[in-house]
Amino acid sequence: MGAGPGAPDLLTLRAARLVEQAEVLVWTDSLVNPQIAAMAPQACERIRTSTLTLEEVMALVIDRAQSGKRVVRLHDGDPCLYGALAEQIVRLADAGLSVEVVPGLSAYQAAAAALQQELTIPGLVQTIVLSRAGGRTGTPERESLERLAALQASLCLYLSARHVEEVQEQLLQHYPPETPVAIGYRLSWPDQWLKVVPLAEMAVASRQQGLIRTTLYVVSPALAASAEARSRLYSPAHNHLFRGGA
Ligand SMILES: C[S@@+](CC[C@H](N)C(=O)[O-])C[C@H]1O[C@@H](n2cnc3c(N)ncnc32)[C@H](O)[C@@H]1O
Repeated sequence: MGAGPGAPDLLTLRAARLVEQAEVLVWTDSLVNPQIAAMAPQACERIRTSTLTLEEVMALVIDRAQSGKRVVRLHDGDPCLYGALAEQIVRLADAGLSVEVVPGLSAYQAAAAALQQELTIPGLVQTIVLSRAGGRTGTPERESLERLAALQASLCLYLSARHVEEVQEQLLQHYPPETPVAIGYRLSWPDQWLKVVPLAEMAVASRQQGLIRTTLYVVSPALAASAEARSRLYSPAHNHLFRGGA
């Protein structure tokens, strides 16, 4: 289940209801706000996963679920993004357990909201790419940052702060050096830090702030868009199903 970027009131209503009914809460304590774990009933067994392996987590989840407990597995953001969802679903299916996946607000959405920024500006950029630096996990060659940068789309980078020098160098191969980059640390938490810098200063700004984790980058021409840009959706000259012409 997705816990969103941090602030408890950014949980979906469905996620909040399930946490409040949990008998066992298995939560990613390195990234999920403890206030969300505290929403579970007092009698709920709470299991932190930051020091456990996948095998240990799954053994606990399967054991509790097979003994008839309502188990909630809580991940930060949306579970479909860098959440190790696939390998957990497979193991639960192998154990004959059914699951419900509940979406959550991802970090890039928290960033756009904090910036008060649309990432798809008509005539300028209409595509959002969610990706990450290669790092230890690596990404397939066809998804290298140089290739993604060639799109000059709104590029949201997860898990990349440790590799920021390399990232900046790769992005500069296609984005102009003055392209704005929003750097968001602990978005939606009380100590959120958010700054927009030119791409050429992305690495130095990150290092000055000491960022190595819980950092999201949004590299986008949209962050410097002219106030004149507007979509056709609300244009008086554009009729559609819900707003017919005269
Ligand atoms: C393991 S990934 C999980 C992403 C998550 N599933 C999501 O949809 O946001 C963790 C990375 O997400 C980003 N992240 C998650 N929450 C964040 C937040 N509140 N502020 C900034 N970045 C965040 C960071 O890049 C962090 O290193």
